[in-house]
Amino acid sequence: MSFLKEIERRRTFGIISHPDAGKTTLTEKLLLFGGAIQEAGAVKNNKIKKGATSDFMEIERQRGISVATSVLAFIYKDKKINILDTPGHKDFAEDTFRTLTAVDSVIVVIDVAKGVEEQTEKLVEVCRMRNIPIIVFINKLDREGKDAFDLLDEIEQKLGLRVIPLSFPIGMGYDFKGIYNIWEKKLNLFSGDNKQTVSEGVEFDDIANPKLDEIVGNTAAHTLREELELVREVYPKFDNEAYLKGDLHPVFFGSALNNFGVKELLDCFIEIAPSPQPKKAEERLVDSREETLSGFVFKIHANMDPKHRDRLAFIKIVSGTFKRNVPYLHVRNNKKMKFSSPNAFFAEKKEIVDESFPGDIVGLHDTGNFKIGDTLTEGEILNFKGIPSFSPEHFRYVNNADPMKSKQLNKGLDQLMDEGVAQLFTLELNGRKIIGTVGALQYEVIQYRLEHEYGAKCTYENLNAHKACWVEPKDPKSTEFKEFKRVKQRYLAKDKQGQLVFLADSAFTIQMTQDKYPNVILHFTSEF
Ligand code: G4P
Repeated sequence: MSFLKEIERRRTFGIISHPDAGKTTLTEKLLLFGGAIQEAGAVKNNKIKKGATSDFMEIERQRGISVATSVLAFIYKDKKINILDTPGHKDFAEDTFRTLTAVDSVIVVIDVAKGVEEQTEKLVEVCRMRNIPIIVFINKLDREGKDAFDLLDEIEQKLGLRVIPLSFPIGMGYDFKGIYNIWEKKLNLFSGDNKQTVSEGVEFDDIANPKLDEIVGNTAAHTLREELELVREVYPKFDNEAYLKGDLHPVFFGSALNNFGVKELLDCFIEIAPSPQPKKAEERLVDSREETLSGFVFKIHANMDPKHRDRLAFIKIVSGTFKRNVPYLHVRNNKKMKFSSPNAFFAEKKEIVDESFPGDIVGLHDTGNFKIGDTLTEGEILNFKGIPSFSPEHFRYVNNADPMKSKQLNKGLDQLMDEGVAQLFTLELNGRKIIGTVGALQYEVIQYRLEHEYGAKCTYENLNAHKACWVEPKDPKSTEFKEFKRVKQRYLAKDKQGQLVFLADSAFTIQMTQDKYPNVILHFTSEF
């Protein structure tokens, strides 16, 4: 197959949702279509169990096996589908944000009864910032939930998405009869016991056809006709270009658990979703069709075996062909490296491959050379943008609890931060180290991993900080900036890249500081 064909057939995407909306179930059903797994339940076992959120042993267990589910790839109708797993737990949101830098589109799952939830809002906001094309899947139609139009309104208002339903439910919950597939003009009827296999829909070009009344009953047929009329009047026509630009968002309805409406989603997805897109580097825009290799690290996974501290770095290929045993330039280290056993991912397995193409993810064994955001090329200096750090929400001082092991502690902290587990700040005033995380759970994970993987012990001490703001003075030599540095001395730190950060103790302080020093700009992400 030609290089261009390989690119065209790839669809690399992520599924995002608030926990419990049905992301895992949907992923699993998609894999079933690809024939990638034989039975439902295979992906499920990797989830963090409910109620176990403070149990780091559970996190460890999950971390170990989730390497296998980090990328789930399968072939469907000759398209190579790469699903990148995004942790649903909010304490791992940062991980999800980073994974979103490696996807070309996303599917958002929403629970029909709960509607738009907090985590959905945050994640969709990140996607919108980057104009990632979004398809919405409204799940659990076999249960009573919100009215379809109300939900579509809620999605428009809370998520700021311009939606267009491409399927529409007939009834809901107890009365759920099926779905009219607007995209393919087909009627799919629901049968509750049909959990693993999929019935082909009936072609139904014209819903005015009296046959509809025979099939779903007069009342339901009448309602459906009215609702579809309303859809036609209220919503724009589907426009693939607008979807690809992130301006228009198709919506599907279904029940992942019952495998209902999933095939419709997948069939439309492979038609309309983008193949690997160009990516912005600091130096230039890199097109996926360029023949020289480029790719970047978006995730690093530590191995479970504490004796072998090797890690797996996940590289998204942006352009060119990644070949086994060919030397590539590690741009940050200015060093050539070759890889004898690059892993590709297939369903739940990983295997060594000779060649991978744009859109694919390769896993490279790493002994500490990589960190998130690193680029590999054939020699060109490229630094891909869009992997920012966001301000953490929790801050704690980290203290060394075993003075004999300070080297181990520093090394451990260094490597865990490269993996993106948390962010490290060093106070300007006294060099004390501060760990910032998105969720409190990370502190347990860090402590546990420092001890088990690096033989170092640490304790924490609370720090009253509200947000980390990255500081950008309009003029670094100005008296205003000098004054800012003098007054805020106690709250200034450097992040791992050496960028200046202001640890503000409240939203009010941020406001005051902005008013007082208008020429010192405060950013809430590290990339500006
Ligand atoms: P998540 O990954 O987004 O967190 O959600 P997950 O797929 O684990 O689904 C959360 C719960 O919702 C699960 O139930 C799952 O079975 C259920 N679910 C998913 N899709 C549907 C659907 O279409 N209809 C209905 N009625 N339920 C659905 P659970 O009780 O938490 O887990 P389990 O005991 O079923 O494994």
